[in-house]
Amino acid sequence: MPFRGAVTLDGPSGTGKSTVARGVAARLGAAYLDTGAMYRAATVAVLDAGVELDDAEAVARVVAGARITVGTGAGIERVEVDGVDVAVRIRGAEVTRAVSAVSAVPAVRRQLVAQQRDLVGAADTVVVEGRDIGTVVLPDATLKIYLTAAPEVRAQRRAGQLGVTDPAQIDALAADLRRRDEYDSSRADSPLRPAADAVVVDSSELSQQAVVDRIVALAEAALVTG
Ligand code: DC
Repeated sequence: MPFRGAVTLDGPSGTGKSTVARGVAARLGAAYLDTGAMYRAATVAVLDAGVELDDAEAVARVVAGARITVGTGAGIERVEVDGVDVAVRIRGAEVTRAVSAVSAVPAVRRQLVAQQRDLVGAADTVVVEGRDIGTVVLPDATLKIYLTAAPEVRAQRRAGQLGVTDPAQIDALAADLRRRDEYDSSRADSPLRPAADAVVVDSSELSQQAVVDRIVALAEAALVTG
């Protein structure tokens, strides 16, 4: 019988979370929602509006007026702001630098969380990736996973993706990861942390395939017992 329900996948950046989430969704025949892409799209709107990132009221106003559209297919990424395709732009350095500030604004979170719940409600089986999905967005999810990995491992993986080999640049990547973790874990609204009932998976020593296998097995077990 196919799996029915929501699997949440939270954790810091650089753990291979997106690849794992897509892999799990494909194996379960589920929809896939990347909530980080929504915060990144909101950041595009803020940058284009030219408001100061530390002006929370202005940031919230811009995001409230932006139409953010994300696809939930497990295949190609579809992300739009007011009908404009931003799928490539949201992965750029400018957005990556600014997104923590935008995602720390409570009104922005409320708006996007409501949209995330609507998208999840429209899918019968879904893998949802983010930072606060098991703790805030879907507290009753069928299965909650918190994916972690040692910071050095995460920096090495990020370097591999970017084709960076210079040790100084790898150190800079590690510093950037730590800065974002610190910011995301210490913000007042929905800090990054595992839900009390999450299964913590440390991917430091596991291949991505092994992580996918583990989560699919847990999802299938959750279906039997849940
Ligand atoms: O997963 P990512 O790197 O695309 O996430 C981008 C940023 O958005 C990251 O700084 C944390 C934030 N984020 C969040 O606050 N809550 C989520 N559910 C998803 C992402």
